[in-house]
Amino acid sequence: MSRTVYVNGDYLPEAEAKVSIFDRGFLMADGVYEVTSVLDGKLIDFGGHAKRLARSLAELEMTCPVSEAELLAMHRELVARNGIEQGMIYLQVTRGNPGDRSFLFPDPSLPGTVVAFTQNVPNLADAPAAKVGFKVISIPDLRWSRVDIKTVQLLYPSMGKVAAKKAGVDDSWFVDEAGSVTEGTSNNAYIVKGNRIITRALGSDILHGITRAAVLRFAAEAQFEVEERAFTIAEAQAADEAFSTAASIFVMPVVEIDGAAVGTGKPGPVAVRLREIYLDEMRKAAI
Ligand code: PDD
Repeated sequence: MSRTVYVNGDYLPEAEAKVSIFDRGFLMADGVYEVTSVLDGKLIDFGGHAKRLARSLAELEMTCPVSEAELLAMHRELVARNGIEQGMIYLQVTRGNPGDRSFLFPDPSLPGTVVAFTQNVPNLADAPAAKVGFKVISIPDLRWSRVDIKTVQLLYPSMGKVAAKKAGVDDSWFVDEAGSVTEGTSNNAYIVKGNRIITRALGSDILHGITRAAVLRFAAEAQFEVEERAFTIAEAQAADEAFSTAASIFVMPVVEIDGAAVGTGKPGPVAVRLREIYLDEMRKAAI
């Protein structure tokens, strides 16, 4: 079935949606994006995603031609028009179409391009992968050093996913020059030792995950200790559990790293519990 998508104020059948070849998103990866999950036809943590979008735009001296209230209305409209019960809304804002290729930023008065579309994932909350967990490999983190900005430059993360697929696993975790895990290709990375949840501290070397913020809040409320610090692959392999978080996977147990089983090699109780708490609480707060 053809989706109805959004382009600069219009709702169109996906085959009719068009963006210029001069768009800076296309030529320069000069754009930012957000992925918001949908459960029960409602948006999960829209406020968090809108806030991070504003931050990404500000860091790149970009403005969004659409207000947060209009973005919310548009997200809801896409959910309704496409009959989404579970899935995701992808939103992208680029610096727009200056009419030619140039390395310089165009005049800030040029309106940016705003596109959005739905991805229908009927079993997002009940994903089969969450029952068995992800297997991951580690690869060097060769991304630029401002990955806290959620830009559409996803070539290296995409290569990381391909490397994982070639290795017969589900994802890659990136490792920095010091040998510490930064994050997954499209998710934040954690390990569990006893009652303690360990994840890299926020900085310019990881994306400030919206799921991460909520999961750490729920973990603290559930009396887990939360330690924000770097960890190595060896420490992760020796941990009781590991997991990843993102809007697209919520809390995903990680059961194998570079061929070594983590804990029992099955999804661990902490990750499973955090996934349940996350889904329960976020469903209650969905809008
Ligand atoms: N990715 N780290 C990276 C590199 C990411 O791309 C993402 C999200 C996250 C988790 O962020 P959040 O919890 O806000 O979804 C961490 C999205 C889902 C994607 O690119 O599809």
